[in-house]
Amino acid sequence: MKRILFICLGNICRSPMAEAIMQSLVEEAGRAHEFEIDSAGLISYHEGEEADPRMQAHARRRGYRLTHHSRPIRESDFRRFDLIIGMDDANIDRLRRLSPDLETDAKIHRMTEFCSPAAPKGHKGAVADHVPDPYYGGEHGFEHVIDILEDACRGLLQSIILRDV
Ligand code: 4NP
Repeated sequence: MKRILFICLGNICRSPMAEAIMQSLVEEAGRAHEFEIDSAGLISYHEGEEADPRMQAHARRRGYRLTHHSRPIRESDFRRFDLIIGMDDANIDRLRRLSPDLETDAKIHRMTEFCSPAAPKGHKGAVADHVPDPYYGGEHGFEHVIDILEDACRGLLQSIILRDV
């Protein structure tokens, strides 16, 4: 069983979207029984809330349904999950500070590590090196988040299957 926890700031946009995409990929691959996939936030401000309605609307256009309710990360997550995957520098910094020891430090990854080299472009034509926070932006930001996450989740599944990350 591989246990994957996606992390973002509020757990109402990026990480529930990543969770739904990854769940859909493992189902398509007929391997859902081999995975536990969840998401959590670094702040508890939105605890109990469904995903942001804008994220839900953009998800629906691509055939995903977001059912997760926001929850903050807890210390026990660092033991339970094998991979703890943050979206940007600030997420990774916070995760490293919360991580109880070296063994759990090694579980922390950045979502864009798993992007293909031909991934959707980030700013200034560079390959995306983080998943930008879409909360205060417009519609394009939500589409961009889904583009990066679809690519990164495909890469993540390949990495797990081929080299057991
Ligand atoms: P997320 O987006 O981290 O992708 O869920 C955000 C959600 C809420 C806030 C910021 C980012 N907020 O400031 O409340």
